[in-house]
Amino acid sequence: MHRNPLFFLALACMVFLPPLYQLTVPSPQAFTESSDKPLPATRRFSAVEEIIRGKCVHCHTRGYALPFYAAIPGIRQIIESNYYGGLRAMDLNEELGKARSEPVGEATLAKMEWVTENGTMPPAVFAAVHMDGRMTREERDSILVWVKNTRAAYYATATAAPERAGEPVQPLPDTLGADQAKAALGERLFADKRLSADDSIACISCHLPEQGGADGRRLSEGVGKRTGVVNAPGIYNVAFNIRQFWDGRAESLRAQVSGPIFNPVEMASKNWDQIIGKLSAERELLEAFLDVYPISWLGDSGGWTGENIADALAEYEYTLITPNSRFDQWLKGDETAISRAEFYGYQRFKAYRCSSCHVGKSLGGQSFEYMDLKRDYFRDRGGELPSDAGLKAFTGKDEDLHKFKVPNLRNIELTAPYLHDGSVNTLDETVRIMGVYLSGMEIVKDDRDLIVAFLRSLTGEHRGKKLQGTPVPE
Ligand code: HEC
Ligand code: HEC
Ligand code: HEC
Repeated sequence: MHRNPLFFLALACMVFLPPLYQLTVPSPQAFTESSDKPLPATRRFSAVEEIIRGKCVHCHTRGYALPFYAAIPGIRQIIESNYYGGLRAMDLNEELGKARSEPVGEATLAKMEWVTENGTMPPAVFAAVHMDGRMTREERDSILVWVKNTRAAYYATATAAPERAGEPVQPLPDTLGADQAKAALGERLFADKRLSADDSIACISCHLPEQGGADGRRLSEGVGKRTGVVNAPGIYNVAFNIRQFWDGRAESLRAQVSGPIFNPVEMASKNWDQIIGKLSAERELLEAFLDVYPISWLGDSGGWTGENIADALAEYEYTLITPNSRFDQWLKGDETAISRAEFYGYQRFKAYRCSSCHVGKSLGGQSFEYMDLKRDYFRDRGGELPSDAGLKAFTGKDEDLHKFKVPNLRNIELTAPYLHDGSVNTLDETVRIMGVYLSGMEIVKDDRDLIVAFLRSLTGEHRGKKLQGTPVPE
């Protein structure tokens, strides 16, 4: 490989000046704090704290000071690409910023597992000059055990077969125990067009049960046939998302509801009063509503309020889960539930690191990732669109540019077209794109076929019936 001569100078600096380099490693508070509160069985990083602190944090946390030789022109770029590349691939500040009692996120665990199993971290160029930066066999084993234990303690579904409790993908639970009365009310509201300004659009107009909870369009059409700027995700299993929307701007399902209702290109309502005025004209609905949300003698929390409408809709969404796909049956221990191709597809899904991001019960929704992580997707697609800002549109932070919530992959064969821009019509092409831009690997056609076969085994059931929809042909 042809390398810039400065690269070797950078390496030399790293070799001869390791103490200075190490001095710049930050000491994130969460690593050193001691607590008097009893902590959960697996304290967040406790079992592997020393390894991560000693060998990983400097390239995976923000706020470090670069060593002085990094100021030398040319060298700066090389060193920075290691630091910023590391930070973009896995930002441990997010983990360290969490409440102490929260376990490490599923995506971080899965990423750690992948790099450890594949021996890719620390990066080879770095390990070549920092012999003591490499992971020993014992350290690798400790990380893998810690990942499996944390996963089993916090994320495994009770119905998983014991030998599958350590898998990055877990079966969906059969129920989330939603309040049935509220959910029934929410179901009615979900289909109620009066939530829109001109009574033309309901939630269900864009989240169709017969389309896997999506709308089959590249971009959704709202009131007055106005089109939005992003593709509508399926409505099933949204309860498992850590936040809602592609850019995560809603922190909960309850907070999400006002998004479409007041969005001028979706339902375009002015305010809750406008909606409540229309809804309360229907006596039977009013009574049903008061049954579930009675007006207390304080008179301030019951009855028709925006908050209660959002609450009922959110409760309904907790019932929109799709358990018992064939893949779930396999996770629960039924060896015959999936074909050989689907089984190998799942192995490829893990090998091509798809499961580093598409992890957990809904295979996604656990982290925000750069769509241009390994290569410039936006340039290759032909330039920027207004919807490409991703998380930055919500946080305003430059570092969040092009970061999107990882979509969940349940029922994925029913929800074409794909990606936030709705630009891809087939699963085959989506998997190819994922390989190049997110995983950093070309995936050959045979492997793509296996992965797509696996993805098709993720279609589940709602209320005991297989989800409706037309599977995408390719
Ligand atoms: C010298 C800087 C550096 C050090 C030290 C380092 N990493 Fe990384 N890390 C990177 C870079 C750069 C990437 C992006 C990888 C790529 O693009 O090939 C990365 C990516 C990752 C990822 C995301 C998955 C991936 O491959 O993209 C994980 C997980 C990770 N590192 C874990 C670790 C762990 C665990 C350690 C400590 C044992 C560690 N790293 C030490 C620079 C570093
Ligand atoms: C005009 C079409 C349209 C209507 C009507 C609509 N949605 Fe959506 N929905 C979308 C689109 C598009 C997105 C993605 C928007 C984004 O991420 O910025 C979305 C996203 C969502 C999400 C987040 C899913 C995820 O994975 O992040 C939820 C939950 C949701 N909608 C529920 C509702 C509810 C409840 C209603 C009715 C109050 C509703 N939607 C009405 C099109 C629509
Ligand atoms: C580094 C994290 C990451 C990795 C690795 C990754 N993905 Fe994704 N995936 C994402 C993100 C983020 C999106 C949404 C990107 C967008 O729309 O701009 C996505 C979107 C998708 C979609 C489209 C979902 C939809 O509803 O539109 C599919 C299918 C998918 N990924 C499959 C895979 C497969 C298969 C692999 C492995 C080859 C993979 N992904 C690897 C993060 C990742």
